[in-house]
Amino acid sequence: MYTLGEFVINNIDHFSYSIEELLRLFSSIKLASKAIHKEVNKAGLTKKIMGSSGITNIQGENQQKLDDFAHRAFIQSFKSRNVVCGIASEESKDFIVIKGKKENPIRNQYIVLIDPLDGSSNIDVNVSIGTIFSVYMRKSPIKMNLTIEDFLQKGKKQILAGYIIYGSSTILVYSTGNGVHGFTLDPSFGTFYLSHPNLCFPKTEKIYSINEGNYAKFSEGIRKFIKYCQEKKENRPYTARYIGSLVGDFHRNMIQGGIYIYPKTASSPEGKLRLLYECNPMAFLAEQAGGKASDGKNRILDIVPKKLHQRIPFVCGPIGMVSKLEEFMENCE
Ligand code: AHG
Ligand code: MN
Ligand code: MN
Repeated sequence: MYTLGEFVINNIDHFSYSIEELLRLFSSIKLASKAIHKEVNKAGLTKKIMGSSGITNIQGENQQKLDDFAHRAFIQSFKSRNVVCGIASEESKDFIVIKGKKENPIRNQYIVLIDPLDGSSNIDVNVSIGTIFSVYMRKSPIKMNLTIEDFLQKGKKQILAGYIIYGSSTILVYSTGNGVHGFTLDPSFGTFYLSHPNLCFPKTEKIYSINEGNYAKFSEGIRKFIKYCQEKKENRPYTARYIGSLVGDFHRNMIQGGIYIYPKTASSPEGKLRLLYECNPMAFLAEQAGGKASDGKNRILDIVPKKLHQRIPFVCGPIGMVSKLEEFMENCE
Protein backbone atom coordinates (compact mmCIF):
# COMPACT_ATOMS: atom_id res chain seq x y z
CA MET A 1 0.00 0.00 0.00
CA TYR A 2 1.58 3.29 -1.10
CA THR A 3 1.79 6.31 1.13
CA LEU A 4 1.14 9.68 -0.50
CA GLY A 5 4.88 10.45 -0.43
CA GLU A 6 5.76 7.14 -2.07
CA PHE A 7 3.11 7.65 -4.73
CA VAL A 8 4.50 11.10 -5.59
CA ILE A 9 8.06 9.77 -5.80
CA ASN A 10 7.01 6.79 -7.92
CA ASN A 11 5.21 9.07 -10.36
CA ILE A 12 7.68 11.86 -10.97
CA ASP A 13 6.43 12.16 -14.55
CA HIS A 14 3.08 13.39 -13.11
CA PHE A 15 4.64 16.74 -12.19
CA SER A 16 6.60 19.02 -14.53
CA TYR A 17 8.42 20.91 -11.80
CA SER A 18 10.61 19.90 -8.84
CA ILE A 19 9.50 16.80 -6.93
CA GLU A 20 11.24 18.08 -3.83
CA GLU A 21 9.07 21.19 -4.01
CA LEU A 22 5.93 19.13 -4.57
CA LEU A 23 6.81 17.04 -1.51
CA ARG A 24 7.24 20.24 0.51
CA LEU A 25 3.83 21.43 -0.66
CA PHE A 26 2.24 18.13 0.35
CA SER A 27 4.10 18.13 3.64
CA SER A 28 2.44 21.50 4.46
CA ILE A 29 -0.98 20.32 3.33
CA LYS A 30 -0.77 17.03 5.23
CA LEU A 31 0.32 18.64 8.50
CA ALA A 32 -2.43 21.29 8.50
CA SER A 33 -5.09 18.78 7.47
CA LYS A 34 -4.07 16.42 10.28
CA ALA A 35 -4.40 19.29 12.76
CA ILE A 36 -7.92 19.95 11.44
CA HIS A 37 -8.76 16.23 11.44
CA LYS A 38 -7.79 16.12 15.12
CA GLU A 39 -9.97 19.11 16.01
CA VAL A 40 -12.92 17.90 13.94
CA ASN A 41 -12.86 14.53 15.65
CA LYS A 42 -13.30 16.05 19.05
CA ALA A 43 -15.71 18.80 17.93
CA GLY A 44 -18.54 17.36 19.99
CA LEU A 45 -16.37 17.32 23.10
CA THR A 46 -15.11 20.84 23.14
CA LYS A 47 -16.63 24.28 22.77
CA LYS A 48 -13.18 25.51 21.66
CA ILE A 49 -13.89 24.91 17.99
CA MET A 50 -17.68 24.83 17.82
CA GLY A 51 -19.72 27.89 17.01
CA SER A 52 -19.00 31.34 15.70
CA SER A 53 -15.73 33.25 16.17
CA GLY A 54 -17.84 36.40 16.48
CA ILE A 55 -16.30 37.86 13.32
CA THR A 56 -17.91 38.61 9.96
CA ASN A 57 -15.36 37.60 7.34
CA ILE A 58 -14.51 39.26 4.02
CA GLN A 59 -17.28 37.19 2.39
CA GLY A 60 -19.82 38.95 4.64
CA GLU A 61 -20.39 35.59 6.32
CA ASN A 62 -20.37 34.66 9.98
CA GLN A 63 -16.92 33.14 10.54
CA GLN A 64 -16.85 29.92 12.56
CA LYS A 65 -14.09 29.16 15.05
CA LEU A 66 -12.97 26.24 12.87
CA ASP A 67 -12.76 28.50 9.77
CA ASP A 68 -10.25 30.60 11.67
CA PHE A 69 -8.38 27.60 13.11
CA ALA A 70 -8.07 26.03 9.65
CA HIS A 71 -6.94 29.29 8.05
CA ARG A 72 -4.18 29.72 10.65
CA ALA A 73 -3.11 26.07 10.47
CA PHE A 74 -2.57 26.23 6.71
CA ILE A 75 -0.80 29.61 6.71
CA GLN A 76 1.58 28.50 9.47
CA SER A 77 2.29 25.19 7.82
CA PHE A 78 3.02 26.72 4.40
CA LYS A 79 5.20 29.42 5.99
CA SER A 80 7.46 27.02 7.81
CA ARG A 81 8.08 24.74 4.83
CA ASN A 82 9.60 27.42 2.66
CA VAL A 83 8.18 26.66 -0.73
CA VAL A 84 5.31 29.13 -1.18
CA CYS A 85 5.68 32.86 -1.81
CA GLY A 86 2.05 33.94 -1.49
CA ILE A 87 -1.28 32.69 -0.21
CA ALA A 88 -4.79 33.96 -0.82
CA SER A 89 -7.40 32.56 1.54
CA GLU A 90 -11.18 32.79 1.56
CA GLU A 91 -10.80 34.01 5.16
CA SER A 92 -8.42 36.89 4.45
CA LYS A 93 -9.19 40.16 2.65
CA ASP A 94 -5.80 40.54 0.92
CA PHE A 95 -3.22 38.05 -0.23
CA ILE A 96 -0.47 37.15 2.24
CA VAL A 97 3.17 37.47 1.19
CA ILE A 98 5.61 34.88 2.49
CA LYS A 99 9.24 35.88 2.54
CA GLY A 100 11.66 33.04 1.78
CA LYS A 101 14.39 32.31 4.32
CA LYS A 102 17.88 33.34 3.16
CA GLU A 103 19.48 29.96 3.83
CA ASN A 104 16.74 28.18 1.88
CA PRO A 105 18.15 26.57 -1.28
CA ILE A 106 14.69 26.53 -2.87
CA ARG A 107 13.28 29.54 -4.66
CA ASN A 108 9.79 29.96 -3.28
CA GLN A 109 7.83 30.34 -6.48
CA TYR A 110 4.43 28.82 -5.73
CA ILE A 111 1.15 30.64 -5.15
CA VAL A 112 -1.51 28.95 -3.04
CA LEU A 113 -5.24 29.71 -3.06
CA ILE A 114 -7.26 28.08 -0.35
CA ASP A 115 -10.71 27.60 1.16
CA PRO A 116 -9.42 26.40 4.55
CA LEU A 117 -12.77 25.14 5.76
CA ASP A 118 -15.54 24.39 3.30
CA GLY A 119 -19.06 23.65 4.50
CA SER A 120 -18.86 25.75 7.68
CA SER A 121 -22.59 25.40 8.33
CA ASN A 122 -22.03 21.67 8.89
CA ILE A 123 -19.30 21.93 11.57
CA ASP A 124 -21.56 21.96 14.60
CA VAL A 125 -23.83 19.16 13.34
CA ASN A 126 -21.26 16.46 12.62
CA VAL A 127 -21.67 16.47 8.83
CA SER A 128 -18.76 16.23 6.36
CA ILE A 129 -16.67 19.33 5.80
CA GLY A 130 -13.50 19.92 3.81
CA THR A 131 -10.54 22.01 2.71
CA ILE A 132 -9.98 23.02 -0.93
CA PHE A 133 -6.53 23.99 -2.25
CA SER A 134 -5.07 25.17 -5.49
CA VAL A 135 -1.47 25.89 -6.53
CA TYR A 136 -0.03 28.03 -9.35
CA MET A 137 3.44 29.11 -10.40
CA ARG A 138 3.96 32.84 -9.76
CA LYS A 139 3.86 35.00 -12.90
CA SER A 140 6.03 37.90 -11.75
CA PRO A 141 9.84 37.56 -11.82
CA ILE A 142 11.18 35.86 -8.70
CA LYS A 143 13.05 38.85 -7.21
CA MET A 144 10.15 41.28 -7.67
CA ASN A 145 7.26 41.89 -5.27
CA LEU A 146 4.18 39.75 -5.81
CA THR A 147 1.28 41.45 -7.54
CA ILE A 148 -2.42 40.68 -7.68
CA GLU A 149 -1.83 39.25 -11.18
CA ASP A 150 0.07 36.37 -9.59
CA PHE A 151 -3.20 35.33 -7.97
CA LEU A 152 -5.66 36.18 -10.75
CA GLN A 153 -4.63 33.40 -13.12
CA LYS A 154 -6.95 31.30 -15.24
CA GLY A 155 -7.85 27.97 -13.62
CA LYS A 156 -6.19 26.05 -16.43
CA LYS A 157 -2.84 27.32 -15.13
CA GLN A 158 -3.18 25.28 -11.93
CA ILE A 159 -0.30 22.88 -11.38
CA LEU A 160 -1.86 21.18 -8.37
CA ALA A 161 -5.40 21.19 -7.03
CA GLY A 162 -7.24 19.10 -4.50
CA TYR A 163 -9.32 18.82 -1.38
CA ILE A 164 -9.42 17.06 1.94
CA ILE A 165 -12.73 15.68 3.11
CA TYR A 166 -13.19 15.28 6.86
CA GLY A 167 -15.97 12.70 6.73
CA SER A 168 -16.49 9.17 7.97
CA SER A 169 -12.78 9.03 7.21
CA THR A 170 -10.35 11.80 6.23
CA ILE A 171 -9.39 11.59 2.57
CA LEU A 172 -7.01 13.76 0.55
CA VAL A 173 -7.79 13.91 -3.18
CA TYR A 174 -5.51 15.69 -5.66
CA SER A 175 -4.49 16.10 -9.26
CA THR A 176 -1.37 17.52 -10.89
CA GLY A 177 -2.99 17.12 -14.31
CA ASN A 178 -2.40 13.36 -14.51
CA GLY A 179 -5.62 11.91 -13.18
CA VAL A 180 -7.25 12.25 -9.78
CA HIS A 181 -5.96 10.21 -6.84
CA GLY A 182 -7.31 9.79 -3.31
CA PHE A 183 -5.47 8.90 -0.07
CA THR A 184 -7.14 7.92 3.19
CA LEU A 185 -5.65 8.96 6.51
CA ASP A 186 -4.85 6.14 8.90
CA PRO A 187 -5.24 8.16 12.11
CA SER A 188 -3.40 5.63 14.25
CA PHE A 189 -0.32 6.09 12.06
CA GLY A 190 -0.89 9.68 10.96
CA THR A 191 -0.22 8.65 7.35
CA PHE A 192 -2.20 9.04 4.13
CA TYR A 193 -2.39 5.81 2.08
CA LEU A 194 -3.44 5.45 -1.55
CA SER A 195 -7.06 4.25 -1.44
CA HIS A 196 -8.67 5.74 -4.58
CA PRO A 197 -6.28 5.66 -7.58
CA ASN A 198 -7.51 7.16 -10.87
CA LEU A 199 -10.87 8.47 -9.70
CA CYS A 200 -13.30 8.98 -12.59
CA PHE A 201 -16.96 9.89 -12.89
CA PRO A 202 -18.77 6.60 -13.59
CA LYS A 203 -20.90 6.13 -16.72
CA THR A 204 -24.10 6.02 -14.64
CA GLU A 205 -25.93 9.34 -14.24
CA LYS A 206 -27.58 9.04 -10.90
CA ILE A 207 -27.66 12.15 -8.72
CA TYR A 208 -28.46 15.86 -8.90
CA SER A 209 -27.25 18.16 -6.12
CA ILE A 210 -28.68 21.65 -5.74
CA ASN A 211 -30.18 23.69 -2.91
CA GLU A 212 -33.74 23.31 -4.13
CA GLY A 213 -34.98 25.57 -1.34
CA ASN A 214 -33.92 28.40 -3.67
CA TYR A 215 -36.22 27.13 -6.46
CA ALA A 216 -38.31 30.31 -6.60
CA LYS A 217 -35.12 32.36 -7.07
CA PHE A 218 -33.69 30.25 -9.94
CA SER A 219 -33.76 31.19 -13.63
CA GLU A 220 -36.14 29.38 -15.95
CA GLY A 221 -33.33 27.24 -17.43
CA ILE A 222 -32.37 25.87 -14.00
CA ARG A 223 -36.00 25.21 -13.05
CA LYS A 224 -36.56 23.31 -16.27
CA PHE A 225 -33.40 21.28 -15.71
CA ILE A 226 -34.62 20.32 -12.21
CA LYS A 227 -37.93 19.15 -13.71
CA TYR A 228 -35.94 17.16 -16.31
CA CYS A 229 -33.99 15.45 -13.48
CA GLN A 230 -37.29 14.51 -11.81
CA GLU A 231 -39.02 13.27 -14.96
CA LYS A 232 -39.76 9.54 -15.24
CA LYS A 233 -38.04 8.77 -18.55
CA GLU A 234 -35.00 6.78 -19.73
CA ASN A 235 -32.57 6.58 -16.75
CA ARG A 236 -34.50 9.23 -14.80
CA PRO A 237 -35.64 10.37 -12.26
CA TYR A 238 -32.26 11.02 -10.72
CA THR A 239 -32.03 10.95 -6.96
CA ALA A 240 -31.51 14.25 -5.09
CA ARG A 241 -28.57 14.54 -2.67
CA TYR A 242 -27.36 17.82 -1.18
CA ILE A 243 -25.48 18.29 2.08
CA GLY A 244 -24.29 21.88 1.68
CA SER A 245 -20.55 21.15 1.70
CA LEU A 246 -19.19 21.48 -1.83
CA VAL A 247 -16.36 19.07 -0.99
CA GLY A 248 -18.75 16.42 0.33
CA ASP A 249 -21.24 16.82 -2.49
CA PHE A 250 -18.48 16.75 -5.14
CA HIS A 251 -16.73 13.71 -3.62
CA ARG A 252 -19.94 11.68 -3.56
CA ASN A 253 -20.92 12.76 -7.07
CA MET A 254 -17.51 11.86 -8.51
CA ILE A 255 -17.73 8.38 -7.01
CA GLN A 256 -21.42 7.70 -7.69
CA GLY A 257 -22.15 9.82 -10.79
CA GLY A 258 -23.85 13.12 -10.22
CA ILE A 259 -24.09 16.78 -11.12
CA TYR A 260 -23.49 19.61 -8.62
CA ILE A 261 -25.15 22.95 -9.31
CA TYR A 262 -24.89 26.30 -7.50
CA PRO A 263 -26.51 28.72 -9.95
CA LYS A 264 -27.06 32.43 -9.65
CA THR A 265 -30.23 33.33 -7.80
CA ALA A 266 -32.37 36.44 -7.64
CA SER A 267 -30.66 37.36 -4.33
CA SER A 268 -27.11 36.31 -5.40
CA PRO A 269 -26.93 37.38 -9.05
CA GLU A 270 -23.22 36.49 -9.23
CA GLY A 271 -23.72 33.04 -7.70
CA LYS A 272 -22.39 32.07 -4.27
CA LEU A 273 -19.26 30.01 -4.75
CA ARG A 274 -15.86 31.62 -5.10
CA LEU A 275 -14.10 31.24 -8.43
CA LEU A 276 -10.56 31.11 -7.05
CA TYR A 277 -10.92 29.10 -3.86
CA GLU A 278 -13.72 26.69 -4.77
CA CYS A 279 -14.71 26.56 -8.46
CA ASN A 280 -11.29 26.50 -10.15
CA PRO A 281 -9.82 23.65 -8.08
CA MET A 282 -13.03 21.61 -8.32
CA ALA A 283 -13.25 22.29 -12.08
CA PHE A 284 -9.65 21.10 -12.51
CA LEU A 285 -10.45 17.88 -10.63
CA ALA A 286 -13.75 17.41 -12.49
CA GLU A 287 -12.01 17.59 -15.87
CA GLN A 288 -9.21 15.30 -14.71
CA ALA A 289 -11.89 12.82 -13.59
CA GLY A 290 -13.40 12.82 -17.09
CA GLY A 291 -16.12 15.37 -16.29
CA LYS A 292 -16.93 18.96 -17.11
CA ALA A 293 -17.30 22.25 -15.19
CA SER A 294 -18.90 25.47 -16.34
CA ASP A 295 -20.76 28.57 -15.19
CA GLY A 296 -23.75 27.33 -17.20
CA LYS A 297 -22.21 28.52 -20.43
CA ASN A 298 -18.42 28.96 -20.29
CA ARG A 299 -15.66 26.55 -19.25
CA ILE A 300 -14.63 27.53 -15.69
CA LEU A 301 -10.92 26.95 -16.32
CA ASP A 302 -10.87 29.53 -19.15
CA ILE A 303 -12.38 32.39 -17.14
CA VAL A 304 -10.06 35.33 -16.44
CA PRO A 305 -10.53 36.22 -12.74
CA LYS A 306 -11.16 39.89 -11.99
CA LYS A 307 -10.79 39.93 -8.21
CA LEU A 308 -9.70 37.66 -5.36
CA HIS A 309 -13.08 36.94 -3.82
CA GLN A 310 -15.04 36.79 -7.09
CA ARG A 311 -18.21 34.69 -7.02
CA ILE A 312 -19.56 32.76 -9.97
CA PRO A 313 -22.39 30.33 -10.85
CA PHE A 314 -21.01 26.78 -10.83
CA VAL A 315 -21.98 23.45 -12.40
CA CYS A 316 -19.83 20.34 -12.50
CA GLY A 317 -20.21 16.64 -13.05
CA PRO A 318 -20.34 14.04 -15.82
CA ILE A 319 -20.00 15.62 -19.29
CA GLY A 320 -23.47 14.50 -20.47
CA MET A 321 -25.29 15.94 -17.45
CA VAL A 322 -23.46 19.28 -17.53
CA SER A 323 -23.99 19.62 -21.30
CA LYS A 324 -27.69 18.90 -20.83
CA LEU A 325 -27.99 21.67 -18.25
CA GLU A 326 -26.17 24.05 -20.60
CA GLU A 327 -28.71 23.21 -23.31
CA PHE A 328 -31.57 24.20 -21.00
CA MET A 329 -29.77 27.42 -20.07
CA GLU A 330 -29.18 28.34 -23.69
CA ASN A 331 -32.75 27.72 -24.74
CA CYS A 332 -34.25 29.73 -21.90
CA GLU A 333 -32.13 32.87 -21.64
P1 AHG B 1 -17.91 27.89 2.92
O1 AHG B 1 -18.26 27.09 4.13
O2 AHG B 1 -16.46 27.77 2.54
O3 AHG B 1 -18.36 29.34 3.01
O4 AHG B 1 -18.63 27.26 1.64
C1 AHG B 1 -19.99 26.95 1.68
C2 AHG B 1 -20.46 26.73 0.27
C3 AHG B 1 -20.32 25.33 -0.25
O5 AHG B 1 -19.50 24.48 0.42
C4 AHG B 1 -21.71 24.79 -0.22
O6 AHG B 1 -21.92 23.90 -1.28
C5 AHG B 1 -22.56 25.99 -0.31
O7 AHG B 1 -21.84 27.03 0.25
C6 AHG B 1 -23.84 25.80 0.43
O8 AHG B 1 -24.62 26.92 0.28
P2 AHG B 1 -26.18 26.93 0.66
O9 AHG B 1 -26.22 26.77 2.15
O10 AHG B 1 -26.62 28.28 0.19
O11 AHG B 1 -26.83 25.80 -0.08
MN1 MN C 1 -16.39 26.80 0.67
MN1 MN D 1 -14.75 28.26 3.69
